[in-house]
Amino acid sequence: MKFFVDTADVKDIRECQEMGLVDGVTTNPTLIAKSGRKITEVIKEICSFVEGPVSAEVAALDYDGMMREGDVLRKIAKNVAVKVPLTVDGLRACRKLSSEGTMVNVTLCFSAAQALLAAKAGATFISPFIGRLDDINLPGMELIANIRQIYDNYDYQTNILAASIRSVNHITEAAIIGADYATAPPAVLKGLVKHPLTDKGIESFLADWKKTGQTI
Ligand code: G3P
Repeated sequence: MKFFVDTADVKDIRECQEMGLVDGVTTNPTLIAKSGRKITEVIKEICSFVEGPVSAEVAALDYDGMMREGDVLRKIAKNVAVKVPLTVDGLRACRKLSSEGTMVNVTLCFSAAQALLAAKAGATFISPFIGRLDDINLPGMELIANIRQIYDNYDYQTNILAASIRSVNHITEAAIIGADYATAPPAVLKGLVKHPLTDKGIESFLADWKKTGQTI
């Protein structure tokens, strides 16, 4: 499974990169707003040190507006994936941008039927939002499993990018199901390494080692 870090905070991205956790980056309008920076500037900076796909989302809702904004975004760097919402116009823009060789991330996916449409439109990535489904008591992980099955049934090449991830368990479960990618906030990615028994084990090994009086 490949990891994308879900943030527009350059410092956070660099930290995760040093830990080998960054195969790419995803952003959205909320994350850009949080960064307090201009979208074109921050995406350009991220692309200067991240080799993998960097998702940048359009704000327009109509096809022409999405194409215009998508054109601005894809010109920033070769590894920009234009992110479009899962609407009729978004799917149209996805089809066009993909046919022109631009990576497209279709976002705000909440059903397997929507994911099927994104694959048919040639999306590079489909972003099913696990956490937001869980928030309204719908089974987010079941959506990942259903999309996996549909894509495998018909050999669609669209990558499943598990999104709206809130916990380490979300990543583990999505990996078991076979999601190709997961995008998660820096804190969740960093949390993957943690286990209380690892800390406890280190503590007791260290205590016993000290008793031997040895050095290596
Ligand atoms: O970037 C898309 C997605 O990961 C957003 O997550 O936590 O705002 O539902 P969240």
